[in-house]
Amino acid sequence: MLTKEQVVQLLNPIQDPHLHTSLQETGGIEEITIKEEKNHVSVKINIAQPNTAEQMQLQQEIVNILKSAGAATVGLRFNQLSEDVIQQFSTTEESDSILDGNSKTTFIGIASGKGGVGKSTVTVNLATSLARLGKKVGIIDADIYGFSVPDMMGVEERPVVRGESIIPVERFGVKVISMGFFVEDNSPIIWRGPMLGKMLTSFFQEVEWGDLDYLLIDLPPGTGDVALDLHSMLPSCKEIIVTTPHPTAAFVAARAGQMALKTEHELLGVVENMAYFESNMTGQKEYVFGQGGGPKLAEQLDTEVLGQIPLQQPYEEEDIFAPGVYQADHPTGQIFLNMANKVVQKLES
Ligand SMILES: Nc1ncnc2c1ncn2[C@@H]1O[C@H](COP(=O)(O)OP(=O)(O)O)[C@@H](O)[C@H]1O
Ligand SMILES: [Mg+2]
Repeated sequence: MLTKEQVVQLLNPIQDPHLHTSLQETGGIEEITIKEEKNHVSVKINIAQPNTAEQMQLQQEIVNILKSAGAATVGLRFNQLSEDVIQQFSTTEESDSILDGNSKTTFIGIASGKGGVGKSTVTVNLATSLARLGKKVGIIDADIYGFSVPDMMGVEERPVVRGESIIPVERFGVKVISMGFFVEDNSPIIWRGPMLGKMLTSFFQEVEWGDLDYLLIDLPPGTGDVALDLHSMLPSCKEIIVTTPHPTAAFVAARAGQMALKTEHELLGVVENMAYFESNMTGQKEYVFGQGGGPKLAEQLDTEVLGQIPLQQPYEEEDIFAPGVYQADHPTGQIFLNMANKVVQKLES
């Protein structure tokens, strides 16, 4: 014959299926009644989410445990735990969203004052370089109107939707998600404000990112809605500002930098893109777009220049098509690798 104490001992270690916490800790065992003459045990149990498939499993588990311990029959009743208790244990709630506090992923937003300065170029090449260093890396192409990451990386597949989650496409060891995957024939998209935020949220929450080290976010140019949404979505995000070397470009980029600072996103540094053209013939550098913008911006924002990228095309390759990705042995690929090393050192030391 089982005693109440024995029943408590048997049931205490069982986990609440939604809180992943033992019934002992949640105080989930409310009442135990034992009818000796019939060898019947009945238990009232409180869990976070009654009337779910998980409850059915739990029921089965408990009946098995009590019967193997000697009960002839088992009666179970489930109710909901109090809101307080649920609150108390929900911090470690199931949800493998990359946004939850347990994720060890570092978010890096790539921003610029205006379009066409090389934000996407920096995003895809920094990402591939981090992957070359052995990091687990993802890209969210959050430039919802001006998405270009799939084209730059030469991605032709589309993400697979499995159940309720989206499996990102992988290219050069980098997981990629982009608005571009969800539009037909390059047709223009008209999104209203709230839709934009929703799209962005689902890129974070419905995509199966796995355990990334770095998630790079190619932001739309300027200081618009998406940047703001992102700022509110990610309490802790690092930021890199891309500019061209022209002093006025740097001036415009400064606004994006100021916004990062206002929203308490930590600036990692400035990338000066299209910094110069170096002649293959003479090795001479020409500062086609002016000079000094990057360092000036870095000084204004009290940060450093992470790298200066010259005007160059990646090597053409017959078998791999990725028009925006510099190869590891390309001089620009080397510059990006140095930049990736700098970023890792800054963040991991
Ligand atoms: N360093 C560079 N050398 C040569 N072309 C570049 C360089 N950086 C960017 N580009 C080209 O300039 C264009 C704009 O760059 P992109 O990265 O798309 O800018 P953004 O994302 O800021 O709009 C693209 O066609 C890109 O391939
Ligand atoms: Mg872009």
